[in-house]
Order: sequence, then C-alpha cells, then structure tokens
Amino acid sequence: MTQDGLSQDQLKDAVAAAAIDEIKPWLERGTVLGIGTGSTANRFIDRLARLRDDFKGAVASSEASAERLRSHGIEVFELNSVGTVPYYIDGADEVNAHLHMIKGGGAALTREKIVAACAERFICIADASKRVDRLGEFPLPVEVIPMARSYVARELVKLGADPVYRQGVVTDNGNQIIDCYEFMIDDPVAMEARLNAIVGVVTNGLFAARGADVLLLGGEGGVERLIPV
Ligand code: 5RP
Repeated sequence: MTQDGLSQDQLKDAVAAAAIDEIKPWLERGTVLGIGTGSTANRFIDRLARLRDDFKGAVASSEASAERLRSHGIEVFELNSVGTVPYYIDGADEVNAHLHMIKGGGAALTREKIVAACAERFICIADASKRVDRLGEFPLPVEVIPMARSYVARELVKLGADPVYRQGVVTDNGNQIIDCYEFMIDDPVAMEARLNAIVGVVTNGLFAARGADVLLLGGEGGVERLIPV
C-alpha cells in the first residue's frame, strides 16, 4: 500500500489506463501494436480489448500474452509479417532515470527485446516500486541455451554475479534462465553488450541500448509521465 492507500494492483491499473490514453489518439484501422508480458501488461491488454475495433491487432512478446489478446478477440500477428510497430507497451522489473530497465522477471525477455527493437516508441508502464537509482537489486535474468548453462554461469561469476538457475522454467524459445544476484550495474549499456557477448547467452534482461522512450509511473500522487534524462 502507498500512503494514499493504493495497492500495487491499483497502481498497475492506473498506468495501464494512462497507456491507453497515450496511444488512443494515434490508433488507426491498420495499426498493429507491440504488447509486453506480465501483470501490468495484462491490465493493459484487458483495457485494450475495449478498443479492439479501432486497430488491426497486436504482436505479442510471449505465448501467454498472445493467448490473453486472442481471448479478448484481438488478432495476433507474427512479427515477421508486420515489420515495425508504432508502439511497444510493457512493464519492467526495475527502471532508472535514463529509462534503462531490468526485465525478464516473467522469463519473456528475449521476445520482449525483439519486439521492442522493432518499435518506434517503447512505453514502459510500472508502479513506483520499480523506479530505482541504480539497476541490480532485482536479480538480472539471462536467457541461455540449455547446454551452455554451466559455462555461462561460470562466466557470470567472473563478472561478479551470483548466478542462480531458475529451476523448472523453460522459455517460449525452449531455453533456460539464470538470475544474477548481488549484481549492481553501474553502466547498463556496457554490461548489456558484455553479457550478450558470452557464448551461449541468448539475451540478457538489461534493456539499455534500447531503453524506453516514455515511462508512465504510478505512485501516490497519480501517474507521472517521464522521459529519459
Ligand atoms: C516479463 C517482464 C515483465 O515486464 C516484468 O517482469 C514486470 O512484470 P509485472 O508487470 O508483473 O511486474 O519483463 O518477462
């Protein structure tokens, strides 16, 4: 609960509503949106359902989001058939003032990063608990090819992380996740590239080279609209 008595769920709802307000004026019959994954993105999807006749459809960053979109009668397209999307709307596990993020708490980081790369604008929606000065308190997810897991973990130790295999999780791409604990990040752009250079890493949950363009942050005083410093 915040001091105003708002729950985290209510804040997620508020930012989902704010994201609808942000994109609604720009929706056209032919628009295909990029849609993220997680509880905040789910709230956005549920609200988007009310506008389903105002746009063409969506590209989803996970099977779970695709299923939720379809359940609302929103058509889901393959990214390859769409090319670019005008907006990508998604949550985050942590976000800093530059709108660099840690994502992947829901193990969808690779597809999230791909759809974000194809987006003209990335709108991040998050409750105020996600806003940090320095990324890394949230364990950084790294998606790995299964046979490379031990090797990648040893490389992560060399970089100062405490890697933990996320047991029982298989990504939509058939891969595994290692979460990096005790890994505070001073230079997210450099670290994102450094981690992606480890053989066997599919991608990592730092979204810094392509951060968000707008952050809709839900807190005690309402929803703040922030751009990168
Ligand atoms: C999933 C993600 C999510 O965006 C992130 O975990 C935030 O989730 P939530 O909105 O449930 O807090 O990166 O892979």
